[in-house]
Amino acid sequence: MQNSCLHDRHDKGDIGLDTRSNRVIGSHTNMTGVSTAGLTLDLGDDGPMTRRLTTALRDAVRDGRLPPGTALPPSRQFAAEIGCSRWVVTEAYGQLVAEGYLQATTGAATRVRDIRGATPLRPLGIPPAEPRPRFDLAPGIPDLSAFPRTRWAEAYRRAVLARPTGLLADRTPIGIADARAVITDYLVRTRQVREDPTQVMVSNGAGASVGWLARVLVRLGHRRIGVEDPSWPGLRDAARRAGLEVVPIPVDNHGLQVSRLDDHPGIRAVITTPAHQFPMGVALSPDRRLELIDWAERVGGLVIEDDYDAEYRYDRRPVGSLQGMAPDRVVLVGSVSKSLGPAVNLGWVIMPQWLIMRILAGDLETGVGPSVFGLEAFAIMINEGWYERHLRGMRTAYRKRREAVAAAIEEMLPDCRISGMAAGLHLLLELPAGTDADGVVDRAAAQQVGVVSIDRYRLRSGRNPALVIGYGNLRSGREREAVGLLARAIRRT
Ligand SMILES: Cc1ncc(COP(=O)(O)O)c(C=O)c1O
Repeated sequence: MQNSCLHDRHDKGDIGLDTRSNRVIGSHTNMTGVSTAGLTLDLGDDGPMTRRLTTALRDAVRDGRLPPGTALPPSRQFAAEIGCSRWVVTEAYGQLVAEGYLQATTGAATRVRDIRGATPLRPLGIPPAEPRPRFDLAPGIPDLSAFPRTRWAEAYRRAVLARPTGLLADRTPIGIADARAVITDYLVRTRQVREDPTQVMVSNGAGASVGWLARVLVRLGHRRIGVEDPSWPGLRDAARRAGLEVVPIPVDNHGLQVSRLDDHPGIRAVITTPAHQFPMGVALSPDRRLELIDWAERVGGLVIEDDYDAEYRYDRRPVGSLQGMAPDRVVLVGSVSKSLGPAVNLGWVIMPQWLIMRILAGDLETGVGPSVFGLEAFAIMINEGWYERHLRGMRTAYRKRREAVAAAIEEMLPDCRISGMAAGLHLLLELPAGTDADGVVDRAAAQQVGVVSIDRYRLRSGRNPALVIGYGNLRSGREREAVGLLARAIRRT
């Protein structure tokens, strides 16, 4: 009713206010009047008139079009000119008086207050996310085009509809018991973990889990933590932010050099990637696995096992988790970032009983978990078999893509060596000695090929130039083209 009333009288629902001289001259009832008057309020045409008028006036005060001191028209007059009930105007004025934008004085006009002291809204200055390059050979991202949208949407829909109203108040920082049991079951089946569902806590991903665990370690008196060199910065930065000093422990062809932990007697915790070292791509050797567990027993310490992409192993079944061998000394950290995508924001931590007891005893903080709906949706994906079906399909797709990339490299870059490609979504491309890897990265970027130098993951400068090539998010069929452009960037042709 109010809408149509407004539109009958003003083409676009605009009103004009002359704000010169601190006096409202009045609003105009035709478009000519609007164009000659000082101020135009765009009332839009969506929603109740009270809200539209309030918003338009608030916006005008905020951006200075209605300067401090400006008197607004008496409500009766303003309403008559807009063609709405007086009530609409008094409501809008009343709301803005309550919010502090206007000031009402008995017997005088309602005026605009001076809000210049209030912090204006400015762009944060954070650049928008970079679009991914046409040929995405950067490691870390799975095939985003294969995200199981329909299944996920269906699982999420079911999760939302099934949640009892009374439980909508419950944030469940460590996750809903039933969903945790489903995840536990899945991990026992696929990763040979040993645990009870009460030892599983859900999180927003591996980085969030390590940040939380690092804060727990600080509370337990840890000051330093060992990290693999090279390694993914996401986890070591999370430990650093929690207040731990990060100590680089070198990696070789058998994975973490466990004996080097003894060079640092103060260290009682280490973050490692035993199933598939990132970025070298090797698995921790069987001897080193036992050596690492011995070390943890000896120092009364903790191994944080980053199980980030163990779903993908191409030459045999995935290497079982270290946690399954020493559940009292190993914390397993996993997420769906490589199986579904980082945007899902969902991960898990499996902890030793003694650590759980310390946390439950109340002297340590609990984590901050993902949305209950996301967690429930993930449990539904597992229960319906959709998650594992997705993984099976992706394993086949990645295997093909990996073979195509390797074949193209062998053909076009015969003087480069490939390693670490038995598992996961990336391989290591060792460049001829003396190659400037950063230069290659820049030249490749200019050709819309995204690659990363291993130096980005090193803590201490290394000698051998190499690129970490991820093929997870490279479009199928583009392998030869991408490697061809990369070869030109390496050869500077
Ligand atoms: C080595 C490693 N661990 C873990 C992750 C996953 O971290 P999040 O679960 O926080 O996305 C990544 C992602 O790139 C990674 O490269």
